[in-house]
Amino acid sequence: MTGPAYSRTPHYTLGDWEHKATVRVGKGGYRLPENLEQQLRSRDWFPPAFIPYIEHPLIHEAGRSIAQRLAANHLVHFLDYTTLLEHRVVNRAVETIVHGELALPIPQPMKTAALQLYTDEGYHALFSNDVAEQVAALYGISDRQPPKRIQRLLGLIDTVAPGDRPLAWFLLGFVSETIIARELLAITRDTLVCTVYRMLRSHLEDEARHSRYFSEVFQYLWSALDPTQRNLAANMLLRIVGLYFEPDLPWLMRSLASVGFNERSALQITGDLLQPDAHGRRVRSGAVSTFAAMRKAGFFDHEHHRRLFAQAGFIDG
Ligand SMILES: [Fe+2]
Ligand SMILES: [Fe+2]
Repeated sequence: MTGPAYSRTPHYTLGDWEHKATVRVGKGGYRLPENLEQQLRSRDWFPPAFIPYIEHPLIHEAGRSIAQRLAANHLVHFLDYTTLLEHRVVNRAVETIVHGELALPIPQPMKTAALQLYTDEGYHALFSNDVAEQVAALYGISDRQPPKRIQRLLGLIDTVAPGDRPLAWFLLGFVSETIIARELLAITRDTLVCTVYRMLRSHLEDEARHSRYFSEVFQYLWSALDPTQRNLAANMLLRIVGLYFEPDLPWLMRSLASVGFNERSALQITGDLLQPDAHGRRVRSGAVSTFAAMRKAGFFDHEHHRRLFAQAGFIDG
């Protein structure tokens, strides 16, 4: 998402939304294929590159069908997370733009694009849930508790003074929308079950537009904030970026238990995710577009803000 997209003049639009958005022109139909069993001989539910623990020797030893079941669990969890994120977080952030909660003038194109984006996310939630239900039914996955990250993100709002909540909601959306396209980019490069690939590909194409839009709106917002609000926003951003890269360990332990790993083995498998510098590394590689948008807005020109993020290990000092 870096490069020319950022150097152009902001338009605050989603481009040719009527002829590009999946909800407007997508073919739809996200049923699992008839030849699923045959596809699963060579294809994956989720790209192994995106399931770091899948390469652990204990999982290798357990064999392909166990790894495949773990990937199915991972996919359902990811899609359940996506469904909640779109409704409860991203669209809540979009509401702050549409309904004038941010206490700054919203140009008409920016508002129209926000209304379009809201529609996109509603459709993403619909097809994510559709595929999650099918895969969950196929494997009898019934233990689908709300992903911990959603709880953590919503919990952050509770810690913010009511008057500052619209800003916090916007920032939650901004970070999410600038990291998700990158996540999905990694996903679609692999060989996946065709339905999953098609769904993620459609989502990715929409999210590339969203990422540009949210980056532009962030720049617009940042230029309008006074120094006190900027400090507040900087502290919120630090916490928010950190939260998006925390692993959901309770879920992962349950997923590993569901295929027969005892607690000791499960702790061995999850160990790498908990290494002291692992979180910082995930942030650095996952938040590239987020940090690029912040840099473009002049966020890191402020010594205090730069130090804040460097001390957390998120950027170079
Ligand atoms: Fe989305
Ligand atoms: Fe989006």
